Amino acid sequence: MPTDEPGPRARFRPAVPGDAPRLADVHIRALMVTYRGIDPQEWLDSLPSQLREREERWTDRLTRLPEEPVLVAEVPPAGIVGFAVGGPARKPSYGYDAELISLYLLPEHQRRGIGRELTRQLVRALLTRGFERVLVRVLTANPARLFYERLGAYPIGTTTVEVGGATLEESLYGWPDPRASFAEEAPAEPAGPSSRTR
Ligand SMILES: CC(C)(COP(=O)(O)OP(=O)(O)OC[C@H]1O[C@@H](n2cnc3c(N)ncnc32)[C@H](O)[C@@H]1OP(=O)(O)O)[C@@H](O)C(=O)NCCC(=O)NCCS
Repeated sequence: MPTDEPGPRARFRPAVPGDAPRLADVHIRALMVTYRGIDPQEWLDSLPSQLREREERWTDRLTRLPEEPVLVAEVPPAGIVGFAVGGPARKPSYGYDAELISLYLLPEHQRRGIGRELTRQLVRALLTRGFERVLVRVLTANPARLFYERLGAYPIGTTTVEVGGATLEESLYGWPDPRASFAEEAPAEPAGPSSRTR
């Protein structure tokens, strides 16, 4: 379960192809918890059987698309506990050129500032690659919408997405001026539970 308890500090780095097995595992575990009660349960139950296929997709992405940033957060002794993926904005893009495509943390590492720092670093990596405006899609039923609002994203529209045979509403949020929203340097106290006092 998400927790505010202190623990070891997170480290952040670009993903490498050797991370693919752990990324597939973390992704599936996070998906199964995040979308319980939102996505069709049959689809969620099928996720563990997709482990190998998803591992291959991660390897493929990390090998063939080095221009699309993938960052991981590591917490000892667990290793990778979350990741963020960026790239060109998918349609409809409302004039935004880049997208925070995916952001997932294991439940027990949420609400410790790791998501905020992964987002900051991912957005800065997109800016370094020449992108200018960043959007993110989030299922309207997912409380993570409030996380993006907390990080200063503006609501820019809605669309729909097919998941496991169901049609679900997605909310789009954007950072029209991401240089202003996300500092180039990490805050003086690096993200991680040991720096949090609440
Ligand atoms: C959404 C997610 C990436 C946020 O990362 P996190 O490390 O838990 O969030 P942080 O600790 O960095 O929180 C940053 C701020 O957002 C707030 N916040 C985070 N999640 C929130 C939520 N679900 N509801 C309300 N506020 C939230 C925090 O309280 C914090 O506010 P503060 O500035 O007042 O301290 C993470 O919770 C997660 O992986 N969730 C499940 C997967 C998911 O939904 N991903 C998004 C798919 S589009």
